[in-house]
Amino acid sequence: MKKILVTGGLGFIGSHTVVELQDEGYEVVIIDNLSNSKIEVLENIAEITEKKPAFFQLDLRVKENVKAFFEKNQIDGIIHFAAFKAVGESVQKPLEYYENNIGSLVYILQEMIDRKIDNFIFSSSCTVYGQADELPITENAPIKPAESPYGNTKQIGEEIIKDTCKANGLNAISLRYFNPIGAHDTAKIGELPLGVPQNLIPYVVQTAAGIREQLSVFGDDYDTPDGTAIRDYIHVVDLAKAHIAALQRLIKKENKTNFEFYNVGTGKGSSVLEIVDAFEKTTQHRLNYKIAARREGDITAAYADTRLANTELKWKAEKTIEQALQSAWEWQLKQ
Ligand code: WQD
Repeated sequence: MKKILVTGGLGFIGSHTVVELQDEGYEVVIIDNLSNSKIEVLENIAEITEKKPAFFQLDLRVKENVKAFFEKNQIDGIIHFAAFKAVGESVQKPLEYYENNIGSLVYILQEMIDRKIDNFIFSSSCTVYGQADELPITENAPIKPAESPYGNTKQIGEEIIKDTCKANGLNAISLRYFNPIGAHDTAKIGELPLGVPQNLIPYVVQTAAGIREQLSVFGDDYDTPDGTAIRDYIHVVDLAKAHIAALQRLIKKENKTNFEFYNVGTGKGSSVLEIVDAFEKTTQHRLNYKIAARREGDITAAYADTRLANTELKWKAEKTIEQALQSAWEWQLKQ
């Protein structure tokens, strides 16, 4: 049985990917430092899959921790989620983001090279494209200068991996996520934003649940049909399954080059007001919102051209926006 290390495996996307890995018959070991997740997620995963993954609470910024882990654990592949991911916070604390997001990546890659471990999947983001010149966004779209240290750590991370694959023959895939939303159908795992949610969907469900007074729609003067910004919202379970598809491609050595990257979205763009409307219709819950000023750093529109992932990864998003919003709502009702 192949043993897969999932760093950040108790996080939002990580936990959903662990469930899919176990369902596919992989043995999973999780490293998480619990800086942006809760230990209860481990039990919740076990309730869903009836298999409790091995878990190590480790800070991957400490090189000795990483070395010691690999000395004791025989790993066949790695999915690396562990990173700080708040765009706004990264502007305030750039060095924390570079140390954590880049340092941990370098230490893990070093161990992979030293121990001849192959099959590395990197959690990246469509944020590397900034505001793309053409929509939908393909993998050939130019990488724009990062608008935040967070986005820069994803760009730098991909460069580090590319150089390492070239120098050492490592096989790696970077998945550039669009906007992950929703929760597992069991409502046992989902998004756990700490403090005031920065992302749209957690704020929507907390407003509907009465935890937040009112949703602010950040701008209605964008160059879009209804004036609000457009994103490609992908169900987190579809996103998790893309990691399985990428892992299988690497393990079967079907990749054509050492380093490949894929846009992972639905291929469909939805505006903020379309999301609000879909949420109200799907859950029959009215949403208290107002139009507010634009949020600094936001782009007008982003949605994926998914043809490369569809053909090369043999993967396609299957769940609808309505299913994603309903699952997010059912998850919120359990908090
Ligand atoms: C979506 C849309 C907001 C909150 C970011 C990161 C990206 C990834 C996902 C980590 C935008 C609007 C939001 C609110 C609103 N993160 N909005 N009111 O900014 O597209 O992407 O999170 O990997 O890398 O950049 O996602 O959910 O914050 O915003 O109107 O209270 O919703 O303006 O148009 P974003 P988001």
